[in-house]
Amino acid sequence: MTGLRLDGRVALVTGSTRGIGWCTARALAAHGATVIVNSRADAEAAKARAAELTEAHCVPADALACDAADPEQIREAYRRIFGTHRRLDILVNNAGILEDALIGMISDDLVERVLRVNTFGPLHHLQAAARLMRRHGGGAIVNLTSIIGTHGNVGQAVYGSAKAAVVGLTRSAAKELAPHGIRVNAVAPGLIDTDMTRGIPPERYRELVDGIGMGRVGTPEQVANAVLFLAGDLAAYITGQVLGVDGGMRI
Ligand code: NAI
Repeated sequence: MTGLRLDGRVALVTGSTRGIGWCTARALAAHGATVIVNSRADAEAAKARAAELTEAHCVPADALACDAADPEQIREAYRRIFGTHRRLDILVNNAGILEDALIGMISDDLVERVLRVNTFGPLHHLQAAARLMRRHGGGAIVNLTSIIGTHGNVGQAVYGSAKAAVVGLTRSAAKELAPHGIRVNAVAPGLIDTDMTRGIPPERYRELVDGIGMGRVGTPEQVANAVLFLAGDLAAYITGQVLGVDGGMRI
């Protein structure tokens, strides 16, 4: 399908050495994009993943160590991206952390950690990416939020707040950046089989799966497909949307 091809486009996927981010990097590279693989601090891991993309899909790929919680590292990363690629067409704000606490147990440190990575990170990346995208007439930004950000969950007041903020960021940025040809959308996964969810206690995990209409957990590839769609030309007239990928999960 021609609208899915991304040849000549440069894409940054944050937190993309594993999980949903890695599957997204693979999906974008498989459709022709030059993908910049990002790790928080492990430059070698990002380089190894970039080499895998080049090997598998015959596309250029790049690697970037950059902590989504550090605005100065983000600014420096975009200086580097501009220096190397001269452009950025796609940003996928995927990096995230999950830390649960019941309301009475929430510490200031936890709030700080979760918001820095899950909310401030996407905001700083979006800000820097939009600046670069405006130089060449537009681009597409896809933010990873969560069903917890739209529906809430016990023990997830902080994570849910952080992800709800990403919905607000998506909708506001979509309005502000539309005149500049930049589309901003979000994907809201339900329960997806990655390292992030493998730590959930078995009983709780079973309860969560029981609440999924389709009766099974999702795969990172299924989320990556939604990101791929929103990042490319098939979604050329779609902005400010939150696309659930949750198998009909009820929370
Ligand atoms: P994961 O834990 O497998 O991967 C997260 C990635 O983000 C890792 O590569 C990690 O190193 C990276 N990361 C963490 N902190 C970072 C930082 N400060 N700077 C740069 N990179 C950092 O998790 P998964 O499941 O792949 O999650 C991806 C996104 O999807 C996250 O934003 C998560 O909140 C969201 N999500 C996941 C769901 C799930 O069920 N797995 C459900 C809903 C949303």
